[in-house]
Amino acid sequence: MNILDLDTVRFSADGAALEIPDQTLLPGRVEILRLTKQEDIHEAIRSLRVRGAPAIGVAAAIGAALAAREIQAADFESFWAQFKEKTAYLATARPTAVNLFWALGRMERCAEENRRLPLPALKTRLAAEAEAIRQEDIAISRSIGQIGLGLIHEGCGILTHCNAGTLATAKYGTATAPMYAAHEAGLRFRVYCDETRPLLQGARLTAFELHSAGIDTTLLCDNMASSLMQKGLIDMVFVGCDRVARNGDAANKIGTSAVAILARHYGIPFYVCAPSSTIDMSLASGAEIPIEERAAEEVTEMWYNERMAPEGVGVYNPAFDVTPHELITGIITEHGLCTGDYEAAFRAQGID
Ligand code: MRU
Repeated sequence: MNILDLDTVRFSADGAALEIPDQTLLPGRVEILRLTKQEDIHEAIRSLRVRGAPAIGVAAAIGAALAAREIQAADFESFWAQFKEKTAYLATARPTAVNLFWALGRMERCAEENRRLPLPALKTRLAAEAEAIRQEDIAISRSIGQIGLGLIHEGCGILTHCNAGTLATAKYGTATAPMYAAHEAGLRFRVYCDETRPLLQGARLTAFELHSAGIDTTLLCDNMASSLMQKGLIDMVFVGCDRVARNGDAANKIGTSAVAILARHYGIPFYVCAPSSTIDMSLASGAEIPIEERAAEEVTEMWYNERMAPEGVGVYNPAFDVTPHELITGIITEHGLCTGDYEAAFRAQGID
């Protein structure tokens, strides 16, 4: 199968459910989950059945639209109180990717702006808004792909970390969008995927999706990137991000900042691909970005046949780290390539 034939996140045909391939089962099994209950959608985001900042945002938007369908209310005030309760609940699923809060905020604004509609029409309007968010996400990835394509040359080697691919967005990905565009354009290049401990998004998801799309793909353990760079095999790094502060500091999967430090050492350009919905202009720097801490078991025993770490040992397991803007060569949004003074560049693109 070509992964681009699979929708990462969508409404079911009858509009009554959220459908996602369960990413915890990939690449071994492609199983489409049909989720209707808020608790199940929350769990799917929390457990990374659907993951990646833009995909989390789309899933939450669809979740909010489905929540609206279930609300029994006599008037807008009663609807609004219940709707806000449900969006607040979905917002607790994960803390770092700002797209979750961005998408829920947009759904709330849509409800308020359409408060005068009869409730059945308001619910239909909210479903349309969630679908618009999904469609826009696809278009945004396509734009990032076209802008990033200009940086890729025949025969180059690209390193990526985690999965900022089609499985992390509605389609095409952010960091992978330039790769899909280059592949379509007939360029030959090789992508190196960090396996991305502890949850292996690089091995399970990025290597799977790029390989299935026919792109020349090589997998490496996270601690091998320096060796590859030393050999001159990497010409550029493309990564995604979960939240970018207005100064350009970018939170992405744990280990990204180490790749940026290596890239700087070896003089390799390091690009962050960021839909504008991932840029949080309310935060002055990356120090303000909340970093998710996850379960110790992800480090001590997950993927192993038996536990590999001594019982009782302390575990450090942050899901993300922040790459300081000084180490970022450029941030590619759907509007263009930002360099230098990121705050000024974001504002020049109408991001505020
Ligand atoms: O914990 P995950 O798998 O949701 O982390 C995902 C990442 O870090 C991605 O690189 C990021 O969300 C960008 S997705 C286009």
